[in-house]
Parts: sequence; C-alpha cells; structure tokens
Amino acid sequence: MQILNIDNATVYRGPTKVFSDLNLAIDFGENTAIVGPNGAGKTTLLKLLAREIYPSTGNVQIFGKDRWNVWELRKRLGLVSPDLQQNYAMSAKGASVVLSGFHSSVDIYGHQTFTAEQLKVAESVLNDLKIDHLCNTPFSSMSTGEQRRHLLGRALVNDPEALVLDEPTNGLDLPSIFQYLETVRRLMQSGKTVILVTHHIHEIPPEITQVVLMKHGKIISHGSKEKNLNNESLSELFDCQIKVANFNGYYQVVPA
Ligand SMILES: Nc1ncnc2c1ncn2[C@@H]1O[C@H](COP(=O)(O)OP(=O)(O)OP(=O)(O)O)[C@@H](O)[C@H]1O
Ligand SMILES: [Mg+2]
Repeated sequence: MQILNIDNATVYRGPTKVFSDLNLAIDFGENTAIVGPNGAGKTTLLKLLAREIYPSTGNVQIFGKDRWNVWELRKRLGLVSPDLQQNYAMSAKGASVVLSGFHSSVDIYGHQTFTAEQLKVAESVLNDLKIDHLCNTPFSSMSTGEQRRHLLGRALVNDPEALVLDEPTNGLDLPSIFQYLETVRRLMQSGKTVILVTHHIHEIPPEITQVVLMKHGKIISHGSKEKNLNNESLSELFDCQIKVANFNGYYQVVPA
C-alpha cells in the first residue's frame, strides 16, 4: 500500500507556485528522509500529505484514497511540525496536550470525553516519553524539547500507521536529540513508517532507507541512501562542496 501518491500536482502557497507537475510515491514501510535547501518545498510537501493544503491541479492520494475526513486522517498519520508547536495552545497542560491527540484538537475541552482505555494509553505515552512529571505544566512553560516530546505523544496516542516529522530535533540539546531519535527508531522498528524532513544528515537513523532530494520545488532524486547521500549528490543539491562519511549506518557531512 502507498502512504502517498502525488500525481502531477500544482501547488500554490499564497501567490507563490511551489510545485508544478510534482510526482512522488512513497510506499508503506518505506521510511524516508526529505532533504534539501531552505525554500525547496519540504514543508509544503508535508502539508500536502497532512491535507493542510490541496493541489490546484493534479491528484494527491493518501493511503490510496483521494478524499479524506481530515480528523480520521490525522489519527492514522501523526504530524509533528514547527507550525503546530507555534500555534499550539500555550495554556494547555502536559497531559491535555497528549490527550488532545484523540480528538485531533489543540488542547482539550469540557465537552470532550475520554474512555478509561484512552486515559490509560495517554498515561503510558507520557511515561514512555518521560514527560509524565510535566502533566500539570502549561505548554508555555516547557522547553522546546519538552514541547516537541508532548506533540510526539499527541501523535502517538492514536497508534498512527505513519509519522510525519518536520525538523523534529531543531533546538534540542544532545541528550534530547538522542532520546528523540531512539523513540523514532523504536517506532520504525515496531512497524510505523516515518517521513522525516531534516537538515541534519547525521540525524537520519539507519532505519530510514529512502531519501528524497528536493530543490526549487522539484524532486531531484528519490532512492536509496547510498544513491543520494554521497559527495556528488549532496554537493550538487546544496551548491557547495560537501564530503560525506558513513559511520555505523549514520551519515555525517563536512565541508569538502
Ligand atoms: N505561507 C506562504 N505564503 C507564500 N509563500 C510561501 C508560504 N510558505 C512557504 N512559501 C514559499 O514556498 C516555498 C517552499 O517553502 P517551504 O516552507 O515548503 O520550504 P522548506 O523546504 O520547508 O524550507 P525550510 O528548509 O526553510 O524549512 C518557498 O519559496 C517559500 O517562500
Ligand atoms: Mg520547512
């Protein structure tokens, strides 16, 4: 099954045409990193996948379907993005942030009800992500990494088939990055498909086997890490001389 199938899509953000005739298919189980310079269209691609924006022409199928009830889709496709973090309700307490995933809402409200089972799931997610001590802390009083972990928890309560992560480790300290990566690796090992946008090549875990290179709204290449994470492809992608090293399944880049 395909998670995503974009067929000849033209996409605008405001007056800017970001994609013309874009084509991309990602199969279920193909853990994929999307890499490219600022403004390449990576976040726009994820927004297309999360149905936050729609193509003006062409077709975007998610899990094989053209039409979606977005609330249903959000349960199957967990999203963590800087936009969500920025727009999240600042007064929401830690436990509410995680619980809000069940209703795909921002914070929780009096009329929303939760079953005993849902409360149990939220509690175990809070424990797994080691954020249970923040269950009464407002979102505004959490560090960047703590907020990010809560948004991951919010996505995970629904046990989604796929996780879509837009620069998830930005602003995190090293132990938080390692912990976040461990969590994401565990999720991939348990069968979830991850689509990760990152500028940090060294944070692409071994479980991610596919790479999409994007530049100026175009997909330059889509294939294995070996094919795309090498001196030639990355130097051309970023228009600067890059040297790539491979270490224990992780890649590292330095100026050539
Ligand atoms: N809300 C918007 N209105 C108009 N143009 C936009 C908007 N958001 C993004 N764009 C434009 O769309 C293009 C792609 O932006 P996008 O955010 O997808 O890039 P990106 O690859 O995620 O970059 P970055 O690495 O900086 O996050 C850019 O040219 C950007 O200026
Ligand atoms: Mg972006």
